[in-house]
Amino acid sequence: MPQNESHRRILVTGGAGFIGSHTVVALAEAGYIPVIVDDLRNSQPEVLDGLERILGHRVEFHAVDCADEAGMEAVFEAPVYGAIHFAADKAVGESVEAPEKYFSNNIGATAKLTHMLRKAGVQHLVFSSSCTVYGEAKALPVGESAAIQPAASPYGYTKQSCETLLGYCHAAAQGQLGVALLRYFNPIGAHPSAEIGELPIGTPANLVPFLTQSVAGKRAELTVFGQDYPTADGTCIRDYLHVCDLAEAHVAALQWLERNGGAMEAFNLGTGTGSSVKEVITAFETATGLTVPHRFGDRRPGDITAIYADASKAFDLLGWRTKRSLEECLADAWRWQEKLGG
Ligand code: UD1
Repeated sequence: MPQNESHRRILVTGGAGFIGSHTVVALAEAGYIPVIVDDLRNSQPEVLDGLERILGHRVEFHAVDCADEAGMEAVFEAPVYGAIHFAADKAVGESVEAPEKYFSNNIGATAKLTHMLRKAGVQHLVFSSSCTVYGEAKALPVGESAAIQPAASPYGYTKQSCETLLGYCHAAAQGQLGVALLRYFNPIGAHPSAEIGELPIGTPANLVPFLTQSVAGKRAELTVFGQDYPTADGTCIRDYLHVCDLAEAHVAALQWLERNGGAMEAFNLGTGTGSSVKEVITAFETATGLTVPHRFGDRRPGDITAIYADASKAFDLLGWRTKRSLEECLADAWRWQEKLGG
């Protein structure tokens, strides 16, 4: 636990987003002072009210682009102890159509932010990466030493590039910048209070928000993309973890950086277990007693057959592992969907 005020302010870029907002809760509960930087281009200001209801106080918030050096000056007026960098675009399909946006918003912004952090003498940086860096892994479960494959999308390329960029910045900082690269598998669920959750704008691209919206009647039905994959039930396999478990991993990573000044490591964050799309539907129905309207459609271009994590490194070094079951994830996702009003 941080000792004093100057060892507590943690900059959270994208802190009004899905994973960012849950991490703000985990940070505050661990005794840190989260400072949200988010220009709300892909999130809603109501998230700040939800956070206030959970935490009992208003979180410091700056409505600014984290790549805007002049706009960020106010953030650095008080000492910043560490940073967690979530702010990024994350729609794989959109990245194929608008790669320049992804290069600018993901890679360019990370370079600018890292420059500001180094200038301000910030020594701890946690970066939001993705299991997408592995592509179609040769062996499962996939560990951190698995080969980084050529990216399947501009989005995936930006995550790989940011990891490379941070490697160079880490080397250049000569022990003055510790970096934890967190490779997320598939985060789902919502805070059990249903005060914060995922707020997809428009038609959701991801499985669980589409599923809950279908059950709520906002969508006619869920289309399961492909049932001819070489898996036991023919549908794709992913490693779904609760966003609150994932949020807690960020606190564990920050504490690991505190214990290991200037270090740099990548960590897989997943449950270690793969679930098929059909298993997710069944788990949702078991957890809620509701029926998921669905049909089977064609494969989605770009989807890989199966991926799940070897998350043992995160347990060994960070002391972190997931605690919540798939049913709990889906019950919380549903509670959040109900809160949104169907
Ligand atoms: C992908 C990326 C992940 C990225 C995320 C951002 C990989 C391995 N993962 O996740 O890094 O952060 O996109 O969006 O590249 N599905 C359906 N019907 C739907 C939606 C999804 O059947 O309407 C299926 C998909 O085919 C897939 C599974 O559900 O098998 C999960 O899909 P999704 O939630 O979109 O996540 P990924 O594609 O795994």
